[in-house]
Amino acid sequence: MSQDNTQKAWGGVFTGKTDPLMEKFSESISFDKRMYKQDVAGSIAHARMLADVGVLTTEEFQAIESGLLEIQGQIERGEFVFSIEKEDIHMHIESALTDKLGDVGRKLHTGRSRNDQVSTDFRLWVRDAIDQIDARLAEVQKAFVGRCAGDMDVILPGYTHTQRAQPVLAPHYWMCYTEKFQRDRERLADCRKRVNTLSLGAAAMAGTSIPIDRFKTAKYLGFEAVAGNSMDVSSDRDFAIEFVFCLTLIAEHLSTLAEEWIWWFSSEFQFIKLPQRFCTGSSIMPQKINPDALELIRGKTGKTIGALQTLLVLVKGLTLAYNRDLQEDKPAVFDAFDSVDACLELVAPIIRDAQLNRQRIEDKLDRGHLDATTFMEYLIGKGIPQRTAHHIVGRLVRLCLERDCRLSDLPLSEFQAEDPALTEDLYNVLGVKNAIAAFKSYGSTAPAEVAKQVESWKKKLNVE
Ligand code: ARG
Repeated sequence: MSQDNTQKAWGGVFTGKTDPLMEKFSESISFDKRMYKQDVAGSIAHARMLADVGVLTTEEFQAIESGLLEIQGQIERGEFVFSIEKEDIHMHIESALTDKLGDVGRKLHTGRSRNDQVSTDFRLWVRDAIDQIDARLAEVQKAFVGRCAGDMDVILPGYTHTQRAQPVLAPHYWMCYTEKFQRDRERLADCRKRVNTLSLGAAAMAGTSIPIDRFKTAKYLGFEAVAGNSMDVSSDRDFAIEFVFCLTLIAEHLSTLAEEWIWWFSSEFQFIKLPQRFCTGSSIMPQKINPDALELIRGKTGKTIGALQTLLVLVKGLTLAYNRDLQEDKPAVFDAFDSVDACLELVAPIIRDAQLNRQRIEDKLDRGHLDATTFMEYLIGKGIPQRTAHHIVGRLVRLCLERDCRLSDLPLSEFQAEDPALTEDLYNVLGVKNAIAAFKSYGSTAPAEVAKQVESWKKKLNVE
């Protein structure tokens, strides 16, 4: 049933009823009820500040605080009734408070508007969401770093252009993702600084003539800064867009990992065994064990990119200050968060428990001349200019391709045909294991460098 407009918070100027179609169309309670805790916290802080500056009495503040906490309890116990006539979580909570307290409840909205209220709640929500994603990312990093000691002796083929390139130690590969997720965490931490700014007190768009103290409100809510321009705050969704951008890069990193491991799990690769508890089968092909978890992680990336696009288009061309379009921001942000949060939660145990098929990987290491570049560097060490050395090795690889053999299978005479000064000791650098041992540079896959990186990550992440 549609409410008489006199009962609506904004109803004074209206005469008739809102069309039920409009109520259904414009409600946000179906999704913004998710911010109930933030709304209660924001209102308590606001009321506390109003009492500090003498706009409310201490008794009024106390009644408001306990009323709001009661409402929070009712929501949490599932006893609270939501209805689209009250549009959003802000109206629901305020009207429930007024039902409890009468005129005292009607004072809560002094010196604020839903425009700054919604922004405040949303900032509080995004702040919590950032902390949760950060914790999940740390778990994923730990899952990778936790594997390093056990996989130190595993050499993987590294690829560029999906063609075999150079050998890498498995921990080097694990820590590659650890680095990517570290940047994601740093981006989130940076985004958090801009999220962690108080909007409340900007009121509708110009501020208020009520003698509020926004710095107090900020302190009560743990905001590090107070937004300096009320018009900016009323219209700003940068913080949410930036958060979703951070989520999108995380999703991209997860998608790369998923894509690679899907290949590794294929019959053609058989590099990895995924834990069966994260696989599913086929309803028609009895033999199938499918990497659905990874496929879904890859697939959900699309939704996250879509959410970012939604937000960017949403704010494009909006005039200052608040416009109702902005209500459409939350579904996109919630969806991106839920998706990335679930992916991170799921991927950590997969990373932890996936088993490398060591024998299979090793048996195939001789393919693709993974030692060619290190051999070229050996020639450089013998005084041969890089371009010349590159050509020499190129010709030798061509010989190998013709004979279907490895560089180490070629007789010394073939090497000496290229350069008579070459001696037997070249066989000490050929082969994938020798190639790995030859690496030296900082950040390379050299065993000593990898060991140092593992140690430093263990310290950073508190991994035993
Ligand atoms: N439900 C609205 C939202 O989520 C609340 C803000 C309403 N402000 C307004 N001026 N109509 O954005």
